[in-house]
Amino acid sequence: MRDTVVLAYSGGLDTSVCIRWLQEKYGYDVVTVTLDLGQQDELRAIEEKAHLLGVKSHYTLDVQDEFVSGYVFPAIKFNAMYQGKYPLSTALGRPLIAKKLAEVAAKEGADAVAHGCTGKGNDQVRMEVTVKSINPELKVVAPVREWNMSRDEEIRYALAHGIPIKPSKSIYSVDQNLWGRSIESGPLEMPDQEPPAEVFEWTTLPEEAPDTPGYLEIQFTEGVPTAVDGTSMRGKELIEHVSRVAGSHGVGAIDHVEDRLVGIKSREVYECPAAVAIIEAHRDLEKLVLTRNELAFKSEVEREWAWLVYSGLWLDPLRADLDRFVEGTQDRVTGKVRLKLYKGSVRVAGRSSPCSLYDIGLSTYNGSRFDQRMAAGFIELWGLQSRTTSLTREGDRRIGHQRKTAKAAG
Ligand code: ARG
Repeated sequence: MRDTVVLAYSGGLDTSVCIRWLQEKYGYDVVTVTLDLGQQDELRAIEEKAHLLGVKSHYTLDVQDEFVSGYVFPAIKFNAMYQGKYPLSTALGRPLIAKKLAEVAAKEGADAVAHGCTGKGNDQVRMEVTVKSINPELKVVAPVREWNMSRDEEIRYALAHGIPIKPSKSIYSVDQNLWGRSIESGPLEMPDQEPPAEVFEWTTLPEEAPDTPGYLEIQFTEGVPTAVDGTSMRGKELIEHVSRVAGSHGVGAIDHVEDRLVGIKSREVYECPAAVAIIEAHRDLEKLVLTRNELAFKSEVEREWAWLVYSGLWLDPLRADLDRFVEGTQDRVTGKVRLKLYKGSVRVAGRSSPCSLYDIGLSTYNGSRFDQRMAAGFIELWGLQSRTTSLTREGDRRIGHQRKTAKAAG
C-alpha cells in the first residue's frame, strides 16, 4: 500500500504542481485540504481541480468561526501588531492550517503532511513547528523548497503533467483571509517605489475616498467586538462589515519594511481595514478602563505575544501563559468607541464604558474635587531621590575642589 500525505491545497500553481510532484517523486497517495478562512476563493472549483489531479480525497473545511474565536479575537485582546504595523493576518492563519493538516492526517492514517511554502519565508516555519508540536511523528514535505524551480519551469512542468493553468492574472503573491490581505513581489520589491494602485482591492485610495467622513461605533464586550452602530453581530459578519466600511474610507492600507524570521528584510504591503480599525478602538478603550500599571505591563506582553505568533511559536507554552494574563485584564474592557474614518485615516472620536476609570470630578479644570494642596507633599516625596542625588553630587564637587586645592598647596 502506498503511503499517504496530506497537502494544504490552495488551488494555485505551486500547490497544484505539489500534488503531481508528491505522486511522482515520492509515490504518495495525496489527500488535499483547503480551508475556508474567509479568503473568498472558489472552493468548489478548487475541489474539482484537486480531483482532476488524481487526489485520493479532498477536504474543504469551513473554519471561519474557529479562526475568529481562537485566533482573531485573541489578537484583538493583545492589540497584536508585529513591529507596530502588521496585524499578523497571514501569521494567525498558519497554525490553524497546521492543526487541520494534523487532524486530517490522523483521520486518513497519513504519515506525512505537505505544504507549498518557499524556503525564504515565515510560513514554512509556522506550519512545520506547529505540525511537529501537535504530532512529532509526522513527516513534513516541502516540495517548493526542494524542487527549486523557476516560475517558467513550474509552468512547463504543469503543462507536461496535465495541470490546468489559468493565464496568471497577477504578478503578485497574495495571501488573504478574514483578518487581512498580504501582497508581495513584483514591483513591490522596490521599497523606494510607491505601490501601484492595482494592488489595493480592499482599501480605497485616499484621493478617491469619500469627501465626507464616515463613523463606526464599535461595542466591545470583555475585550471582543460584539456590535457595530448598535447592531449585534457575530464575529465573522462584524469583521466583514468593519472591513468594508473602513476600507471604503481608505483605512487599513499598510506599507512597511518587515524583518522576516529568517533574517531577510522585506517590503510588505497589507490591507487590513478591520484589524486596523478594531485594534485602534480596542486599544483606546483599554486606556479608559485599565490602570497605568496594567497598560505599561500589557504593552510588553503584547509585543512578546506578537513575536511568538509571527515567529511560528503559536504552541509555545508561553503563549498560553500570556493568554491567561491578558484574559484577566479583559473582563473590564467593555464599552463603546466611536471611530472617525476619513481618506485613509482613522481617529477615535469618542469612548465610553461602564468600567471607565475616568472621573470628570477629578480631571475637570472647572472646580475639581481633587484637593490641590495634596500635590505639594506628593512632589516632595516623588522627587526625593532626585533631590538627594543632586545634593550628593554637589557634595562630591565640593570635596573634589578641596582635594584639588589641598594638592596644589601640598
Ligand atoms: N510577511 C507576512 C507574514 O510573514 C506575509 C506573508 C504572505 N505570504 C504569502 N504567501 N504571500 O506573515
